[in-house]
Amino acid sequence: MESEEYAHVTDIDFSFEGPFGSFDQFQLQRGLQVYTEVCAACHGLRQVPIRTLSDEYGPELPADQVRAYAANMFVIDAETGEERPRVPTDHFPTVTGEGMGPDLSLMAKARAGFHGPYGTGISQLINGMGGPEYIYSVLTGYTGEEVEQAGTYLYGNEAFAGGLISMPAPLSDGLVTYEDGTEATVDQMSRDVSAFLMWTAEPKMMARKQNGFVAVIFLIVLAALLYFTNKKLWWDVKHGRRED
Ligand code: HEC
Repeated sequence: MESEEYAHVTDIDFSFEGPFGSFDQFQLQRGLQVYTEVCAACHGLRQVPIRTLSDEYGPELPADQVRAYAANMFVIDAETGEERPRVPTDHFPTVTGEGMGPDLSLMAKARAGFHGPYGTGISQLINGMGGPEYIYSVLTGYTGEEVEQAGTYLYGNEAFAGGLISMPAPLSDGLVTYEDGTEATVDQMSRDVSAFLMWTAEPKMMARKQNGFVAVIFLIVLAALLYFTNKKLWWDVKHGRRED
């Protein structure tokens, strides 16, 4: 049953999984590069403010790099109606039109990678939600099959529901050149851009995990205090001693 909607989703040990996992800043930077050089041609990230690229636990780009990055993208100014370079407080572009794909801002949370067996969600519980794994699997799941349907081309893809996707395989080995020397294989670029899209979908994941951790510690301390308070209060009763 599991295979019906999303077939073949590969489980990946991303650095941000588990209660203590965190984003790998350098992986996010590589993912940003893949998004910018490849995916941005067809996909927007309209929910993401460009300034967040310098946020803690994100790609953490220096402010001047973020300004330069923003200025490479143009926007029609809402007030003047004229085109101007973007500034960090603007969002990433919205991309629409013929042949363009859906906005990717929240895609990693909009898709689940793991279901079943029989929709019980057990696999999801054990393996996590799997949105980034799903994106990775779509990017690496091309079978090479190509069919034409009413003038549009569809491409065989093992991870996409129905097995045929209208996105042509966007990645090929060596498509980008990573500054940190990481080899740009299809597998590596797919991992990096999937991690980056997990960050765009949930930029506050690290803060949320830290808050959760602090809350658990607090509850443990509180439980211990209550236990000893309780003991002290009942001490006299239990030991048959009375003041009067
Ligand atoms: C040539 C344009 C083009 C490029 C480049 C491109 N895509 Fe797509 N993408 C599309 C189209 C069109 C769709 C819609 C496919 C469909 O619904 O059949 C799509 C769909 C998707 C989906 C959604 C699958 C789903 O479950 O709905 C994801 C995820 C995705 N693309 C990720 C990426 C990533 C990541 C990159 C960069 C590595 C990328 N795309 C590059 C055109 C493109």
